[in-house]
Amino acid sequence: MKSAKSYIEKNKNRFLDELIELLKIPSISADSAYKKDMLKTAEAVKKQLEKAGCDTVEICETPGYPIVYGEKMIDKKLPTILVYGHYDVQPPDPLDLWESPPFEPVIKKTKLHPEGAIFARGSCDDKGQMYMHVKALEYMTKTDQLPCNVKFMIEGEEEVGSKNLAGFVAKNKKKLANDVILISDTGMIANDTPSITTGLRGLSYVEVEVTGPNRDLHSGLYGGAVANPINVLAKMIASLHDKNNHITIPGFYDEVEKLSKKEREKMAEAPFNLKDYEKALDIDAVYGEKGYSTNERNSIRPTLDVNGIWGGYIGEGAKTVIAGKAFAKISMRLVPNQDWKKITELFKNHFESIAPKGVRVKVTPHHGGQAYVTPIDSLGYKAAEKAYEETFGKMPIPQRSGGSIPIVALFEKELKSKTILMGFGLDSDAIHSPNEHFGIWNYLKGIETIPQFYHFFTEMSK
Ligand code: BES
Ligand code: MN
Ligand code: MN
Repeated sequence: MKSAKSYIEKNKNRFLDELIELLKIPSISADSAYKKDMLKTAEAVKKQLEKAGCDTVEICETPGYPIVYGEKMIDKKLPTILVYGHYDVQPPDPLDLWESPPFEPVIKKTKLHPEGAIFARGSCDDKGQMYMHVKALEYMTKTDQLPCNVKFMIEGEEEVGSKNLAGFVAKNKKKLANDVILISDTGMIANDTPSITTGLRGLSYVEVEVTGPNRDLHSGLYGGAVANPINVLAKMIASLHDKNNHITIPGFYDEVEKLSKKEREKMAEAPFNLKDYEKALDIDAVYGEKGYSTNERNSIRPTLDVNGIWGGYIGEGAKTVIAGKAFAKISMRLVPNQDWKKITELFKNHFESIAPKGVRVKVTPHHGGQAYVTPIDSLGYKAAEKAYEETFGKMPIPQRSGGSIPIVALFEKELKSKTILMGFGLDSDAIHSPNEHFGIWNYLKGIETIPQFYHFFTEMSK
C-alpha cells in the first residue's frame, strides 16, 4: 500500500470541510427534539459512504434511530473488515461553558494541537474518528488500492446505550460476517506516543429515587422530625465507599479480574506524569482506591460514581424547604468477568437494604454492558501494530482504557471476531465536555494509518 500522505495533502481542505459540514448537524440522540437532525445525519453519512466507494449503502430502520450500513465487496476469498462507529453525539450542556457554539465548528490552535483542532460536539467522539474511515476508504478506492472487502455499520444510539444495535446484529449475522472489527472511538496516549486500546470497561448505569414525606415541607416546622430525602441520599451514597475508597456493595469485587504482578509492571511502563496530570485538571492531588496507581484506577479497577444528583430548591436565593424527593444517577465502570446484570442486581439489593426507616427507595436500571479485552497476539492486533509503525515510525503501546463501548463485547459473542480499537483522540480532547475538539493532525494521521491496517491485515491473512 502506497502512503496516503500526498493524497491527504492534496485533499486536506476538502476532508476538513466535509467533516465540518457533518459536525454542524446536532445529532443528539439523548434528546428527542433532535430527531430530524438525527435522520439528516444518517442521510449525510449514507451519501458520503456512497461517494467514498461503497457499492451499496442502506439506512436500516430500528425501533430507535437508524443504522447506516454500507459495503464494498471485491472478492469473497479476501478478508472482510467491519468498521463500526457512531454518528450520534452527547448533549452539549452546559452551553455557557463553550467558547464557541458546539454546532458551529471552528479551528483553533492548542498547546497539544499546534497545527489546529476542530472545536465542535462530536468532533472526536465520534464523527471525526468515524469519518477518518470514510476518507480512508475514499483514498483506497480512488487510487485502486482497496486490498480486501469492507463493511460499515454506523449507528445512532451509542451515546444512549446502543439499545437497538444488539437486535440488529443478532438478526443480521450473515450480512455482518467479517474477519475483524475495526473501531476508532477511543484515544491514544500522545501524538508522539501511539497506543492501541486493548481494553474497555463495562458499565452499569442506574437511577435512584429517595422518597420521604408526601410533599415538600417547611424546613423549620418539620426540620429534625422527619427524614430529609436529600440528607438520606447523601449519606447512602457516601456509604458506598469505605475509607480506602473500596466499594462497599457486598459481592461487588467477587469476579473482578486480577492482573498478575508482571502485567501490572508492564502497564506501569507506559509514559505517565502525575504532576502534569494534576496540573492539567487543576487539582492538588489525585484521589482513588488505595493500593492502585492512577492508570490502574481508571482502567483495570471497577468504580462507582454519581453522575448527577438533584432535589429540593436550587433557584436563586434561599428557600427553607425539606424536599419530598431526592434523585441521583450513578454509573459503575466494570472490569473483565464482572457481569453488568449481576452488578446491577447487587447494587439494587444493597441500596434498598441500606435505606433507613422513614424513606422509600426506588432503583431504576438504565443500561449497561460487559467489559472487553482484546489479545495482543491476534492477527488484527499485529496488523494494527505494523500500521502504526509505518505511519508513526514507532511501535504503538497496548493500553487499557477506562471508557466503555458496551456493544464491543457483544460483537465478539455474536459475530465471533476480535475488535481492534484504533483511537486517535487524546484524553484532553474534552469528549462529553464543553469545548470538545479533535486535532487536525490526529484526523489526518488516522486517515493515513487506516489503509495501512487494511494492507497488513490482508497480507497477514494469506
Ligand atoms: N467513545 C466513547 C467511549 C470511549 C472514549 C472509550 C474514550 C475509550 C476512550 C463512547 O462514545 C462513550 O462515551 N461511551 C460511554 C458509554 C455509553 C453506553 C454511553 C461511556 O464510556 O461513558
Ligand atoms: Mn464514542
Ligand atoms: Mn461518547
